[in-house]
Amino acid sequence: MSDFMPSSAGPFSAGPSRAAPSGAVLPGAAHGSTVPAAPRAGLGADAEATAFIGRETELAELRAILPTTRALTLCGPGGIGKTRLAQRLATTHQPTANQPAQVRLVELADLRRDELVPYRVAEAAGVTEEPGRPILDTLIEALRPRRTLLVLDNCEHLINACARFCQQILAGCPSLRIIATSREPLRVAAEKIWQVPPLTLPSADDLSPAEMLRSDAVRLFADRASAVRPGFTITADNRAAVAAICAALDGLPLAIELAAAQVGVLSAEQIATLLADRFRLPSADERTGPARHRTLRAAIDWSHDLLTAADSKYTPTCPCASRKPAGNSCGNRNATAL
Ligand SMILES: Nc1ncnc2c1ncn2[C@@H]1O[C@H](COP(=O)(O)OP(=O)(O)OP(=O)(O)O)[C@@H](O)[C@H]1O
Ligand SMILES: [Mg+2]
Repeated sequence: MSDFMPSSAGPFSAGPSRAAPSGAVLPGAAHGSTVPAAPRAGLGADAEATAFIGRETELAELRAILPTTRALTLCGPGGIGKTRLAQRLATTHQPTANQPAQVRLVELADLRRDELVPYRVAEAAGVTEEPGRPILDTLIEALRPRRTLLVLDNCEHLINACARFCQQILAGCPSLRIIATSREPLRVAAEKIWQVPPLTLPSADDLSPAEMLRSDAVRLFADRASAVRPGFTITADNRAAVAAICAALDGLPLAIELAAAQVGVLSAEQIATLLADRFRLPSADERTGPARHRTLRAAIDWSHDLLTAADSKYTPTCPCASRKPAGNSCGNRNATAL
């Protein structure tokens, strides 16, 4: 296992953080701003809170790709599982002579200003700003001799700043590799873009509960449902409804979690019926999950807010993409990509 540290001293911390104090005012910062402390949710704490399900094929493919590129971007719509996959890839990373020896996880979802990107990375890497010197120069000098795998999580809302940062740090640090997660590619030189697929669904032939559980989507539903209703399992009675739920939600992990959270009060059959109004299913994790994940509507709103004015004028053409729809049922599979 590699030397691994998330951007916050969460449960994955490999030891005491050497980073500048979280939330500290960085003395030489031209803007004199406070860098917000990296949140505990996301790559570190979030991953600890719930079991990671499946993705064996995807991880095998990504492990084969990683040594062939210095910039790998996991792309896909909100809630498809980019963060969990990147986190899994990073925490199971095996350093070799040619592969990075240390992993640094950088959570960007809560950052709102472009210029804070290098500061958040410096915090994760344990690099402290030097007075009178640009943080990027200090960071490049510190990381140049290290074989580091940098995971930049949730780049989409700071896409230009992240792209610029990646370009500069990759040029300055020949041994550095980056895994980014983003709803759109960074478009930096040598970037490999990897589209994260939905979770596997049960096939029409998967009739027994045991066979159903070969599907990652069903396993995720069963795992999250058993958290709200202990003892919940896939049975001959509920298997058809669970299969219908997973298929209706296109194997989207966030949507499956939101649906499974309802088994405390609803049967699987009732949930399948309610999915006609799929975007209104509330989350059981109302307090601790990222705000953009508390309902599927919130995840879509987060994506919508990232659109430029020019882009967003086209979105109302799809009924499920408008900001305040009367009803959100939409059979368009691309709706989840908003
Ligand atoms: N393989 C998995 N095993 C268990 N849970 C998963 C898996 N993939 C995704 N999830 C869960 O689904 C939800 C969405 O996943 P994640 O945050 O990784 O999506 P994302 O693509 O990064 O979304 P966003 O674009 O909003 O950042 C989270 O609650 C996460 O824990
Ligand atoms: Mg994410």
